[in-house]
Parts: sequence; structure tokens; C-alpha cells
Amino acid sequence: MIQPNILVVGSMNMDLNIYGVPKIAQFGQSVGCDSYAYATGGKGANQAYAAAVQGANVTMVGRVGNDSNGHALITELEKVGIHTGFVVPDKDAQTGLATIMVEDTGRYFSYVTLGANNKLDPEDVEKALDKISFDMVLMQLEMPLETVYRTYELAKERNIPVFLDAGPAMNIPLDRLKGIHIISPNEAETEALTGIAVESEKEALEAAKQLYERANPAYVVLKMGSRGVYVYDGKAAKMYPAWKVDAIDSTGAGDTFNASFVNKICQGYDFDDAIQFATAAAAICVSRKGAQVSIPSQDEVQQFLTKQLCK
Ligand code: RIB
Repeated sequence: MIQPNILVVGSMNMDLNIYGVPKIAQFGQSVGCDSYAYATGGKGANQAYAAAVQGANVTMVGRVGNDSNGHALITELEKVGIHTGFVVPDKDAQTGLATIMVEDTGRYFSYVTLGANNKLDPEDVEKALDKISFDMVLMQLEMPLETVYRTYELAKERNIPVFLDAGPAMNIPLDRLKGIHIISPNEAETEALTGIAVESEKEALEAAKQLYERANPAYVVLKMGSRGVYVYDGKAAKMYPAWKVDAIDSTGAGDTFNASFVNKICQGYDFDDAIQFATAAAAICVSRKGAQVSIPSQDEVQQFLTKQLCK
């Protein structure tokens, strides 16, 4: 099988997942929850992890603090063969920390202290791009916006397609991302970027068209949670339904989708097959607790698909 070379530029966080969250607390209120667990996460690191466990050759560019969480994050990536030589341990910053409040349906909200991620520099990215030749770059927004823009510009100069996972939710100017290969927000991120709450396919099309006009990508890929994935290429749109599973924790599901999709496209899968594989990988991820720990291998996804398609 072809082993793509994928560069992931993005965040590395220690996650503190709190489970059985009954409601959002008000100021001055203390709300009891069921249990908690620490797990390695961060949108960038999760995407790197997913691509690696599904067979890609992955290089990570990121920043952590020179502390125990930072060391743990690097170790977890190295365990699955990710090249971490461009991850900078920053002695003047703390490792990013995400406190993720998960309700019983698997939905969550989180508070993220970006710490060292906020110091991720375009020069860190340039060093990796100068040294290794990549098939695709995968990035997110949990880092300085200038680094997001420069990563795209540096990749474009080298004719490398870029996939932007538009998370976390924020409205950013897209002019400097014009011509990007893929822009992929989830529902909350779509609303933050476009002002459109995607309740139906009509609104999905409206939002996708707006993003297409602003960023001029080859594809807009809207991740719509349990409803599935909506793709628009400037001419036609298509809805791919999600696989039905018992959701426990959706942390990292979007990251799993992005990386699985990119890996399969780089391996030469056609678009529909890559989406089918990536939605299956994300479905497995939501049925387990935690971010990286819940990301399935290529074989697990294949077995899941075989079962689902034989039903
Ligand atoms: O996308 C999920 C990730 O977002 C979590 O692992 C958390 O670290 C936040 O960055």
C-alpha cells in the first residue's frame, strides 16, 4: 500500500475529560460530574496520530512546554512512529491544556489554554517543509493566525495541497487562504465563519457556497456530526450520512475524520470511498472515551465497514 507523507501543523494539548456532565455551570455554582480522565489530545496531535495509526508517514510541527505534559505528548506520538523532530519544547511556555466537559450523549464543550501552541512560529513550519517532501499538509486554527496563513503560503509555493480543519470555532478572514485545497468546519465552526446555523441541507448549501466564494477551495467539507458530511465543489453538493453508533464521547471525532480522509485521498482512494472510510473512523471514535486513545487503526475501520456493509 502507498504510504503518504503527511505534514500536520497544529496544536498539542493534554486533555482533562470530565464525564457525566449534567449541565453548564453558572458563575458561583458547582456542578457534580461522574468521572474524569487525562488523555493526550490537541487537534493537531490527534490528526497526526490518526494518520499515523492508519498507515501514513507523519511529521508533526507543534510546540509544547518543557514540562511533563509536553514530554508525555511527544512520547505518545513517537509510540506510533510520528516524526517529532520539529516539535519545539518551549522553555518559556506551558503545554496546552483542554478541559473537556462531556455529557452523556457524547457532546462536549471545552475550555482550552493554548499555552505553547500560541507560540507556534512559521519558521518552525518552514524548517519541516525545507527538509521533507510532503503529499499533503493538514492544519487547524489552534495556533497563531499568522502561522495558519504562512503555512498555507509556504505549502503553496511548493505545490503541496493543504487541508484546513477550521476548528476551533472562530470567524477569520479567508483572503490569504484563497485556493486552499479543502476547508472543513464542523457545525459550530460553520456558524462562526458564515453566520449560518446549519439546520438543514438548504442552509448547508448556503454556508458552503459562502465559504467557496471566500476561500475558493477545491472542496468545502462540512462535518455535521451525527447527520454526516456535506461536500460542495463549486458545482454540485452531496450529503454523506453518518454511520449509526452509540455515542459516548465525540472528542477527536472530527480530527479522526480529517486525517483518515486525507490519508485515503493521498493513498489514491476515490473521493466517495475516502469519505466512507473517514466517516467510519469517526463513528468508531465517538463510541469510545478520549481523543487519541479512541482513534481506530486502519484494520479496525475496515472490519467496521465490512460489518456495516453486510447488514
Ligand atoms: O478536537 C478535539 C481536541 O480539541 C481535543 O483533543 C482538545 O485538546 C482540543 O484541542
